[in-house]
Amino acid sequence: MADAQAINPANTHSMHTRTCGELRSANIGEEVTLTGWVARRRDHGGLIFCDLRDREGLTQINFDPEHSDGEAFKIAETMRPEWPIRVHGVVRSRGEDAVNPKLATGEIEVLVDHAQVLNRSKTPPFQIEDGIETAEETRLRYRYLDLRRPEMAARLRLRSDFTFAIRSALHDRAFTEVETPALFKSTPEGARDFVVPSRLQPGNFYALPQSPQLLKQLLMVGGVERYYQVAKCFRDEDLRADRQPEFTQVDIEMSFVEQDDVMSQIEDVLANAFSQVGVEMPTPLRRISYWDAMDTYGSDKPDTRYGMTLVDLTDVFAGCGFKVFASAASTEGHVVKAINAKGAGAWPRAQIDKLAKTAATFGAKGLAWIAFREDGSVNSPIVKFFTDEEMDELRRRMDVEPGDLVMFAAGPRRESDEILGGMRSHMADALDVPREGHDFLWVVDFPLFHWDEDGQRYEAEHQPFTLPHLDELHLLDEDPLKMGSCTYDFVMDGFEAGGGGMRIHDAELQLKMLEFMGFTEERARAQFGFLMEALEFGAPPMGGFALGLDRVCMLLAGTDSIRDVMAFPKTSSGSDLMSAAPSEVSLAQLKEVGLRLE
Ligand code: AMO
Ligand code: AMP
Repeated sequence: MADAQAINPANTHSMHTRTCGELRSANIGEEVTLTGWVARRRDHGGLIFCDLRDREGLTQINFDPEHSDGEAFKIAETMRPEWPIRVHGVVRSRGEDAVNPKLATGEIEVLVDHAQVLNRSKTPPFQIEDGIETAEETRLRYRYLDLRRPEMAARLRLRSDFTFAIRSALHDRAFTEVETPALFKSTPEGARDFVVPSRLQPGNFYALPQSPQLLKQLLMVGGVERYYQVAKCFRDEDLRADRQPEFTQVDIEMSFVEQDDVMSQIEDVLANAFSQVGVEMPTPLRRISYWDAMDTYGSDKPDTRYGMTLVDLTDVFAGCGFKVFASAASTEGHVVKAINAKGAGAWPRAQIDKLAKTAATFGAKGLAWIAFREDGSVNSPIVKFFTDEEMDELRRRMDVEPGDLVMFAAGPRRESDEILGGMRSHMADALDVPREGHDFLWVVDFPLFHWDEDGQRYEAEHQPFTLPHLDELHLLDEDPLKMGSCTYDFVMDGFEAGGGGMRIHDAELQLKMLEFMGFTEERARAQFGFLMEALEFGAPPMGGFALGLDRVCMLLAGTDSIRDVMAFPKTSSGSDLMSAAPSEVSLAQLKEVGLRLE
């Protein structure tokens, strides 16, 4: 990426001539002015050393009554951590014994002659340095101090670099960035909307967009052909480490294209952007169908850097003595499947028993298991039900060795896959299975619908504007859950890092789909009438994609929470701890928008 020092060597437009990260032995003898915060001060009786910190790094500055003027030395004696100061001095060698190899500027120090205090600081509530164990609540309450820490500064920089890279990759490929409104109408992406009351039209509300989905389709009708936007999206849903109520997508849409055009263009853009931040993404990306991903990994966002894949044993246990397995094996649509967690077979029984609780969080009613001990013995509550032949076949299919733990799920296919998929990633973490480098793939051909128990209706798996596999339209009446869609998710390191699909550009088909999902024509027109009308004016074939920028940056930064790559994230209860948002508004404000609280 662009090297800030190369672009702005003299830092002429600021109070300093150099940053705290750039001085090396080649600079010895130079006069410099630095600004920054007092990171650490060491009084060596007569000599005072200080680490000065700015956005670029740390530089040791040295106050010596022989060289520093009286004012500077007085400042050195009284300054406290996190005071911003400005110093002038000469770069000199630290001397061979004093070199700090852990610091980029570790060969030099600046011998200060003049100094100036720019402000004072209260004692910060935590150390401003990397690797602190301060509670995240405290860091979020004082986020501006947290952001001074080098690792946080580096994450913001990485995010900026990657965002810049992908913008330039898109710009180079003739994409136009278009901004779309945040005050808009509901755009369904499967979450709840944040609504904003209108003052000019009391009783009416805007919805903040869950994504620019409808608007980008309208831009295609508007002839933009290649659109992108680094777009804020708003979704009122339960928060997790990889979910925030407002987050950023690199949103893309193309027209006059087929699915392969879109996918290969996205690959090209992503590979280019990743390479600009030093990450190689091999293209063409591997593609795996949704059903294969579920069957093999028990997940629609598999991490394929390790094995532990799901093995179907339904036929092995068809007539076995263990009722749970035998009845699953003889029920249509049910399966007996298993994974082999190598290493966990040596775990003590109590630890293995606890796994059933973990499996329950993925929906399991029980977790049958067989531990193959290192000494060749077998420990399990269920082996007594199996014949030697059944055990031999199990060992063969599961590639069993001493030290292995085989875990089973018996029941409906999709549920069993999800349970084992959950256990697979749980065991990978528990066993510290190595996952080197990054893992990129497409998961394609998601089902068009899923069945929504609560609403008792078919719901769109991706979103209601997704193009179905047109050769499967007849399944709409026969077996809608078997219908596939022209969709693709971009999976990175076991996370859904992006997703997209081809759109319906035919007004009639769009209405038919909405009606099938339980919309009356009237409701469909009330909610999406503007889209359906636009489709009637020569809408071109179109498709697109949205990259979850926060998630990708989290993975590039090697952290496990998207909060780490957002300057001002919210907590899991949706609060901003710094400003205490959300908070009450005045009665007058409520009245203005025609609202009264219950
Ligand atoms: P989708 O809903 O899959 O698709 O969103 C695209 C990507 O956005 C990221 N993402 C999130 N990141 C952080 N917090 C959240 N709450 C959150 N929700 C989603 C994910 C996800 O893959 N309009 C379609 C895209 C399209 O079809 O073109 C859409 O929004 O990484
Ligand atoms: P039970 O005979 O009900 O005590 O079950 C014996 C073992 O099978 C226990 O370890 C249960 O957790 C496990 N078990 C029960 N139901 C299932 C299932 N559907 N899939 C996998 N294991 C199960």
